[in-house]
Amino acid sequence: MSDIVKIVRTVHDLRKITAEWRDRGHTIGLVPTMGALHAGHISLVKQAKKKTDRAVVSIFVNPTQFAPNEDLSRYPRDEAGDLKKLLDADTDLVWAPNVAEMYPEGFSTSVRAGSTAKDLEGAFRPHHFDGVTTVCAKLFNQVTPNVAFFGEKDFQQFTVLRQMVRDLDIPVKLIGVPTKRDADGLALSSRNAYLSEAERKIAPALYAVISALAAEVAAGADIPSAVTAAKRKLASAGFAKVDYLEVRDAETLDPAATASGRPLRVLAACWLGKTRLIDNVAV
Ligand code: PAF
Repeated sequence: MSDIVKIVRTVHDLRKITAEWRDRGHTIGLVPTMGALHAGHISLVKQAKKKTDRAVVSIFVNPTQFAPNEDLSRYPRDEAGDLKKLLDADTDLVWAPNVAEMYPEGFSTSVRAGSTAKDLEGAFRPHHFDGVTTVCAKLFNQVTPNVAFFGEKDFQQFTVLRQMVRDLDIPVKLIGVPTKRDADGLALSSRNAYLSEAERKIAPALYAVISALAAEVAAGADIPSAVTAAKRKLASAGFAKVDYLEVRDAETLDPAATASGRPLRVLAACWLGKTRLIDNVAV
């Protein structure tokens, strides 16, 4: 086995390799990432290795999904560390274009995300999902995967992309992979690197609170009162601000006023100091 992972930086080179794989009848799995890889990403690569013949990981910090006030320049980057982890995970190819390759001079088309993008994250991060759908549509066209793997930690993102693929007849199957957590329950995220030691101790309360809320809803609790009580628990745990804490239909993301028998999801976003954490669990 080689001791460096194959890294490709131009669409031209990528197409040559993927065309050859397809000619040989190999299936392709894509794991789209923005780098700063952790065990959650590696679990996606493992799924790609298991379910397809060739595992491609894209690393691209996508500027179009960050608002001007967001953390694009602060976003953690560690290409050398990422490549080592991807080599260890037996990745077949790393697709790592630069911004000019992804968005060449004159680029001006975008994919507008559908109805599942309109609130939750969409309400706090306008245009975020349009950036995600645009870059993922490009990644799907560039890599032509049979299957693409996404972490359920970004549950709304997964739902928005599933809607895009369905609406635009993009021939790729999307698989959502359960969230990887630290032993204390905190969902793995590249943004956890921003937490101070004291904030890191508080952070697992998010998972504890949304899990308890999901259990209460499953047991038939009144959703609005259970949500209000859960928000109070987050505040007393030390979360400065809750952007949202909601119980939603797991497919449409429409608000769920009662446990109707349809699958539901609890989704939350809140702030610890300057760091915004998101998490979700099934009811
Ligand atoms: O989840 C992410 O890391 C990004 O939103 C994605 C899907 C790679 C698109 O840039």
